[in-house]
Amino acid sequence: MQQPIAILDSGVGGLTVAKEVMRQLPREKMIYFGDTARTPYGPRSPDEVVKFTREIVDYLIQFRPKMIVIACNTATAAALDDIRSRVSVPVVGVINPGARAAIGCTVTGCVGVIGTEGTIKSGAYEQALRELSPYVQVVSEACPKFVPLVEKGNFHSKETYRTVLESIGHLRQFPMDTLILGCTHYPFLTESISEVMGECVNLISSADETAREISTILQDKRKLAQGARLPVHQFFCSGNSAMFKTIAKQWLGEQIVLSPIVWQEPVIV
Ligand code: DGL
Repeated sequence: MQQPIAILDSGVGGLTVAKEVMRQLPREKMIYFGDTARTPYGPRSPDEVVKFTREIVDYLIQFRPKMIVIACNTATAAALDDIRSRVSVPVVGVINPGARAAIGCTVTGCVGVIGTEGTIKSGAYEQALRELSPYVQVVSEACPKFVPLVEKGNFHSKETYRTVLESIGHLRQFPMDTLILGCTHYPFLTESISEVMGECVNLISSADETAREISTILQDKRKLAQGARLPVHQFFCSGNSAMFKTIAKQWLGEQIVLSPIVWQEPVIV
């Protein structure tokens, strides 16, 4: 039986990574877990985020994944090292891939980072960016109002645009040419974010680079899926599965050919 890649997030945000994995690695089977009952993770303490991430990983391990992807910046910042020390398979986070993509893109050397309170407070992006490029100027901003909008499926409304403008409009005063969407939920708001920031600012989502990292690791370990048949993906969420399903279908169905998806009843972890 084909071993899956397990992907987790506090909700629908990790679907931005899942979509890119489906595009770059169409043969890989995925098991996705969105903790919609306990989203958002952003305002929670690092200890609580570690506890939740451990619980989800303990649940996902029953599927014998060949890799675990923490497709949540808040959980990556709080729990990546902890989870790596607890499991024997490779564990990939989204912060280093996002930082790499941003350093590869900036010309002015001024990079913006927007994320949840937890991610911004952790300083994880600043550290990752400085390790790659010591003199980079980093401007960080927490945007606690974004995740609840995304979880409600409210991507394109006037309210969303106004919230984005109020939260990050002031970042335009900085000479940044690159803005990291340091929360996997934020690519859902790309339209408003790019309208507010203007066309001279490149928006970086960790998804592309994370999928590339997954591919490299699987290749090195000779664990890439073989065979011609498209995999059947499985999606789980801990809360309201109706909204999760609607958003997932909308997001995943647009550009890619979907292989059959098994929708699971909500699981409370
Ligand atoms: N998608 C998540 C992240 O990347 C979590 C957001 C949240 O639950 O607050 O940070």
